[in-house]
Order: sequence, then C-alpha cells, then structure tokens
Amino acid sequence: MSIIVFGSINMDLVATAPHLPTAGETLLGYDFFQAPGGKGANQAVAIAKLGIPIQMVGRVGKQGFSQELIDNLATNNVKTDNVFVDETVSSGVAIINVDDAGENQIVVIPGANGQVNQEDIGRLSQLLPGKKALLLQLEIPVPAVIAAAEAAQKAGVKVILDPAPAQKDLPEELYPLVDILTPNQVEAAQLVGFPVNDEDSAKKAAEILLEKGVKCAVVKLGAKGVYCSTGTKSFFTPAFSVKTVDTTAAGDAFNGGLAAALSQGLSLPQAIIWGSAAGALAATKSGAQFSLPDRDTFDKFLIGNR
Ligand code: RIB
Repeated sequence: MSIIVFGSINMDLVATAPHLPTAGETLLGYDFFQAPGGKGANQAVAIAKLGIPIQMVGRVGKQGFSQELIDNLATNNVKTDNVFVDETVSSGVAIINVDDAGENQIVVIPGANGQVNQEDIGRLSQLLPGKKALLLQLEIPVPAVIAAAEAAQKAGVKVILDPAPAQKDLPEELYPLVDILTPNQVEAAQLVGFPVNDEDSAKKAAEILLEKGVKCAVVKLGAKGVYCSTGTKSFFTPAFSVKTVDTTAAGDAFNGGLAAALSQGLSLPQAIIWGSAAGALAATKSGAQFSLPDRDTFDKFLIGNR
C-alpha cells in the first residue's frame, strides 16, 4: 500500500570544509555542489528508491529551482501531481556545511515550504483514504502539520512525524495525533528538556513522549543506535557500522526505510532495522538525495550485515 509525504522540498547548496566554521571565522573549503534536498522530499525519494509507491504533497516557488526540484522528484518515481507551484515566493533553500567527519550545519530558508496552508491540507485530505502512512516533518508551518495529522487520524492513516528541525515548544495537541515520533538526539533533548545521548536518557525521553500521547517513540541516537518504545514493548537496536562521509539526510533515510518496511507489513523491530540500514547507507555518501540507497544496494547491505 502506498505512502504520502507532506512536507518540505529544498535545493541544497553544500560546501565541504575541514571543520564547521565557528562564529566570525572565514574558512577555506574544498568543494561546492547544488543538489535536491528538503526533509520531506528526501523521505519521499528514500521510499521511492526502495520501490514503494509514494506521493509528495508540498510546495515549490515560482523562481529558483522549482522545475528542477519537481523534475528530480518525478525522475525518482515520486508522484508530483500535488506539488503546488507558488507564484508568490521562491523555492526552499538549505545552506549546508559538511566537515571531514561528515557532520553538518544546516540553515534552511523555507520559501514556498513556509506558505503551506489549508489549501494543501484540502489536497492532502483527498489522497489519504486507503493510504498506509503519512510522513511529516517540521519544515512547513506547525499548524499545517497538526491539520495534516488530524486529517490522517480521521482517515485511519498512520502518522509518522520526524520533529525536525528541532523545536522546543511543540503544541501539546500534536502528540496524541502521532503514531510514531522519530526525534534524533538534538530534537529529543529539545522536546523533553534534558540531554539525550545514550540508551538510558533515550528511555527517559521516550517515557515522556509516550505520556504526552504519541503511540510509539523512536529515539535516533546516530552511530549508537535506536531506542524504541510503545510503552508495552521497548527495545534497543544497535546502529550498523559504516564509514561516515556525510550525515546529511541520514535521518530522512531512516524515516523512509521505517515507513517502507511498515507499508510492506513488516514488524516494528524489523522496520527499525530497515530505517537504520537506510540511514547508515545514506551516511556513506555525499549529499541528501544523491546518498539515498536504491533497493538493490539496500538488500545487499541487509544480507551482508545479518
Ligand atoms: O535532513 C537534511 C535536509 O535538511 C537537507 O536536505 C536540507 O534541505 C534540510 O532540509
């Protein structure tokens, strides 16, 4: 059964350098490239590359990369009929620095993503019946995320929310609308108000998120692994060991892999393994969507790492 991603579409402007610049520092970098990104679009492409039917709902702007971004989604087998071209703004852009360790810094200028509104919810609502899951992130306005989650819940569609970029005060009404919440360490810390960087702190964070109303908390601890709890069932899944080149979109790949597995009827523990494998593979290559694994590479990796 197919999946919908409702969220951001960006063009990424990427610079690589020995380290991430500190305030006031001018740094000589190695390289620059431009590539399609955006947390929503990355999740959609991650799912499409695993061979699962996927539809994107979102906005690009009139000028600045819009056709390129739509063409790129279509080339990757993401349905784009519901990507609206907003004549009033430019497309979303992300300025990304990546260092020698593969760590990044990202500044997102929302552009058209910031204009997502009730009209888009209307188009989304038409598509929801019969879908397996709706994937959301926080690069579009939070009221639109809440309205989308409400519509999905009404339609009986599973809501998977990546609370990224990190936000401190997410409206409390959002939590009970979420089936699976997938914060990374930074996002989990923002949501619960204490550092989250190991299994113990992830467990405490998950307990709070479950109390707030999410049905399942999946705390992504990067190279350490993933802690998952539904309240009645909790487990830790170690990360796959890979040589990290660039972590950009590793979290998006995780969510794509997780949703793809669930749409195929796999269990939650198996879906976490799919997410972890997709995330690990994405970290081995540069760029957001360029780094997302195709099905063949993904299957071979899973078999080779049993
Ligand atoms: O998660 C990575 C993404 O974050 C990048 O592709 C960038 O566009 C920002 O949205």
